[in-house]
Amino acid sequence: MASTETSPHVARYPAGAKAFPHRDLIGIGQLERHEILFLLDEAEQWVTLNRQPTKHNDLLAGLTVINAFFENSTRTLLSFEIAGKRLGADVVNMHAATSSVKKGETLIDTAITLNAMRADAIVIRHGSSGATQLIADKVDCPVLNAGDGQHEHPTQGLLDALALRHALRERGEAADDFTGLVIVICGDILHSRVARSNLLCLQALGATVRLCAPPALMPTGIEAMGAEVYHDFDAALDGADVAMMLRLQTERMSGQFIPSAREYHHLYGLTKQRLANAKRDALVMHPGPMNRGVEIDSEVADLIDRSIITRQVEMGVAIRMTALEVLTRRGRGVAGWGAAT
Ligand code: NCD
Repeated sequence: MASTETSPHVARYPAGAKAFPHRDLIGIGQLERHEILFLLDEAEQWVTLNRQPTKHNDLLAGLTVINAFFENSTRTLLSFEIAGKRLGADVVNMHAATSSVKKGETLIDTAITLNAMRADAIVIRHGSSGATQLIADKVDCPVLNAGDGQHEHPTQGLLDALALRHALRERGEAADDFTGLVIVICGDILHSRVARSNLLCLQALGATVRLCAPPALMPTGIEAMGAEVYHDFDAALDGADVAMMLRLQTERMSGQFIPSAREYHHLYGLTKQRLANAKRDALVMHPGPMNRGVEIDSEVADLIDRSIITRQVEMGVAIRMTALEVLTRRGRGVAGWGAAT
């Protein structure tokens, strides 16, 4: 895994660079490496707070955060809600299933409505790629992307990096960046915004990323993003430091992409035997929700010393606290956070 030699000290703030000059968090693709590291560093204080019996801070007291979720979610919605509440904000959840979206309201009209209620931050999850940007263009407050179609899921990319950093540090390894690490992302890459955000984030932090999927579930031309493409999972795992598994996003599939779940498991499921191709201490990750017995076996998902799946969930709250706190600094008049770009 990463050693001190392969992880040179990272220049966090290149001369003249602002720590975080963006109003919105739409994707990892908009972030420079030092901005990613800034967010990961800022998150550490919230990891510490979240491990205390009393997990409260009033930084966002009086602010209104709206979570507008047009797609189902368990951990992302809950962790954004918990994050806002732990920072003292008033958090309101809008579920599309019970909103006026069902009455035919357009996304832009919904955005204008949320804006008129003077939200201080809006968190959006939507089934269409680009929907978050569309809303950001119509409102006056920071917008956070909680997943838009197959495009991006930036807080997932950040929380995965934070979970990995913590796991490496606990093993006494230098994890300031991920130079020298080989990370395999295996599953339904085609339909996955998690794969895209992780590819961008992990590469920005120096890792080599191998993407593995059946040909039908691999986006064409993804090599242009710098990924190594594999269709043979055993070969992809060879010597890897991390195996990150993704579920089959059947809700996004029109038609048949795989012969059967059984066959998929046979070729692309992470079993204990298959994990033996990776490094002896390789870590196992999954953004959830898991389909046990399909993309990952229970005995691998629950490996105490190797699986960091629940740690990913833990880090999700800290990352979402960070994103809400940093993006509302301008609105809260925090010194040095005035100029919007
Ligand atoms: C992912 C998502 O919604 O993009 N889940 C998550 O946010 N933890 C991946 C998925 O649904 O499979």
